Amino acid sequence: MDHLVAPSLLAADFGNLAEDVRIVNGSCADWIHLDIMDGVFVPNISFGFPVVECVKRIAEKPLDVHLMIVDPDRYLSRFREAGADILTIQYEACVHLQRTVTSIRDLGMKAGVALNPHTPVSLLKNTLPYIDMVLIMTVNPGFGGQSFIAESYNKIRELRTMIDEKGYAVLIQVDGGVDTSNAEELTSAGVNVLVAGNSVFSSDDPAETIRRLKKLC
Ligand code: DX5
Ligand code: ZN
Repeated sequence: MDHLVAPSLLAADFGNLAEDVRIVNGSCADWIHLDIMDGVFVPNISFGFPVVECVKRIAEKPLDVHLMIVDPDRYLSRFREAGADILTIQYEACVHLQRTVTSIRDLGMKAGVALNPHTPVSLLKNTLPYIDMVLIMTVNPGFGGQSFIAESYNKIRELRTMIDEKGYAVLIQVDGGVDTSNAEELTSAGVNVLVAGNSVFSSDDPAETIRRLKKLC
């Protein structure tokens, strides 16, 4: 399948968010990525339900919501109501992971599990039948604009093999330090979904950068 591109609004202009959402609407992006940070799981606070709801009202693409929060079970239905189509929780924040991802699916969303850079992909071996996507964090979560961690390629290739050997329909997403210089190598290693924040919204022409990430040229 062709890979997908999900621009991260964390790098958008929050004073003019509607305009940046419209730019993504008019681009060849596939999803809109929203980063929810609670100041506990990660050392940063981003935004919550009211912002997701506002984006949902004008978005013409599915909302890909990435929760970097402790105890995500408390908020799954709230994010569904706010407009999430894909909901990704962090592996490290879940005690009963299979229950959490099953709840996400029961609410009508696609379920994703994100792995911090130090968390091995092998820990998901028994969870892959219950999820739609694995997000391999390619930076330590919490901030945009960080440098890509090169060890991530080994994790991507290992996970690609795990998925393909069993024939699971699970997407591999990467998030952190993704730009036009590494997009092609990432998709060649087996990535299905590229998340990109600063490389899109700090560029002179975000729609053109999205097009380059999508077409890899
Ligand atoms: C990081 C977030 C990312 C962030 C990526 O914790 O999960 O989605 O927006 O930003 P860039 O692409 O600038 O590294
Ligand atoms: Zn993210």
